[in-house]
Amino acid sequence: MRMTVIGTGYLGATHAACMAELSHEVLGVDVDEAKIASLKDSKVPFFEPGLPEVLERNLENGRLNFTTDYAEAAAFAQVHFLGVGTPQQKGTYAADLTYVRQVVEDLVPLLEGEHIIFGKSTVPVGTAEQLQELADSLVKPGSHVEIAWNPEFLREGYAVKDTITPDRIVVGVREGATAEAIAREVYATAIAADTPFLVTDLATAELVKVSANAFLATKISFINAVAEICEQTGADVVALADAIGHDDRIGRKFLGAGLGFGGGCLPKDIRAFMARAGELGADQALTFLREVDSINMRRRDRVVQLAKEMCGGSLLGKRVTVLGAAFKPNSDDVRDSPALSVAGSLSLQGAAVSVYDPEAMDNARRVFPTLSYASSTKEALIDAHLVVLATEWQEFRDLDPEVAGGVVEKRAIIDGRNVLDVAKWKAAGWEMEALGRNL
Ligand code: UGA
Repeated sequence: MRMTVIGTGYLGATHAACMAELSHEVLGVDVDEAKIASLKDSKVPFFEPGLPEVLERNLENGRLNFTTDYAEAAAFAQVHFLGVGTPQQKGTYAADLTYVRQVVEDLVPLLEGEHIIFGKSTVPVGTAEQLQELADSLVKPGSHVEIAWNPEFLREGYAVKDTITPDRIVVGVREGATAEAIAREVYATAIAADTPFLVTDLATAELVKVSANAFLATKISFINAVAEICEQTGADVVALADAIGHDDRIGRKFLGAGLGFGGGCLPKDIRAFMARAGELGADQALTFLREVDSINMRRRDRVVQLAKEMCGGSLLGKRVTVLGAAFKPNSDDVRDSPALSVAGSLSLQGAAVSVYDPEAMDNARRVFPTLSYASSTKEALIDAHLVVLATEWQEFRDLDPEVAGGVVEKRAIIDGRNVLDVAKWKAAGWEMEALGRNL
């Protein structure tokens, strides 16, 4: 099947390359000339394990190409995926739909005949209906454009696997639409492998996506709220999460207590969900998400407070190493990163902060140019008075406390992600603190 994928960020570039991997003929489209030039040159403009190989293979076999030209996209295919960003609007909680609308405004007037646009971006409920009205008002006489919604559930770091073998496919369609049949063709490989394929109305499909992310955020904040109680009572949140996680109605996944969630999705999605509920006159339904957000942000403050205590009450003049800058391991994404937020606060309170991340250094430098950046874990650790493990990269989990101890000024560490072997680090003479545990 021929298709275009409009928007070539984390979502779009992955979708385009993976659809080609599944034998479709794909044209990736973006207005960003530099991004398109890089993708055409077989370079993924962000870190995503496995994606460079898929990109290269499919550029070479000719199934994948990229363009900045909407006229080329309009002529290339009758099926279009829309995967542009919906960031948080400046100054409000709502999602900014400028880019999504712009795609419809730019593409639809160029289309001839029957076309389907599958929205993949995370949008407030009701957006697909509005885009259908917009498309109807722009389409050429005699042509027709159908808007359907096909939310994306991929995780950064596992984007290729999640796209090629998703755990479910959701397609929101209008009554009498042809989108379902087309989606079955697009996802034939996954459907043949018994992947659940769920067809809903447009509003449900839009809500499935934000509800999934809101649930994940709530699960993380739930365990982090319990972590606050553990800190007051001497209980241990890791043992507690293991114990409740054995109940398969609860499950152990996303009960990782620590610095909490960040990234380009969970934080902005729960805020946009609240904003939309307010617009719909149902704000009470989601006020609990405000708490989810505050619990999450409090964890960052807690780490800074612990750091201060471990540095004898003041961070002034202390050298603090922050291990990690990305919002999670296996990503170079620093959007709303808890690690960088902590590094920034420590620096503002007078510490000399040295940051190291295996992949996110360039992005971190752009966002926080005032921090100092080391070129390796070892360099970051030299002469530190305190180490903060903020993103659980494997390299940091594997750190040898003896070797690290030989480089720092003082053996003191905060495990912000609850991933280190406490007994081993303590045996090596480290003073240790973690979130939700009394060490
Ligand atoms: C999230 C969802 O998991 C995807 O299903 C969704 O498609 C995506 O958003 C999106 O909307 O595009 P992602 O942002 O890549 O994916 O990251 P997650 O793996 O969900 O992690 C989010 C944050 O939660 C990270 O900062 C992570 O460190 C944190 N986290 C995760 C915890 O603090 N504890 C946990 O137990 C798990």
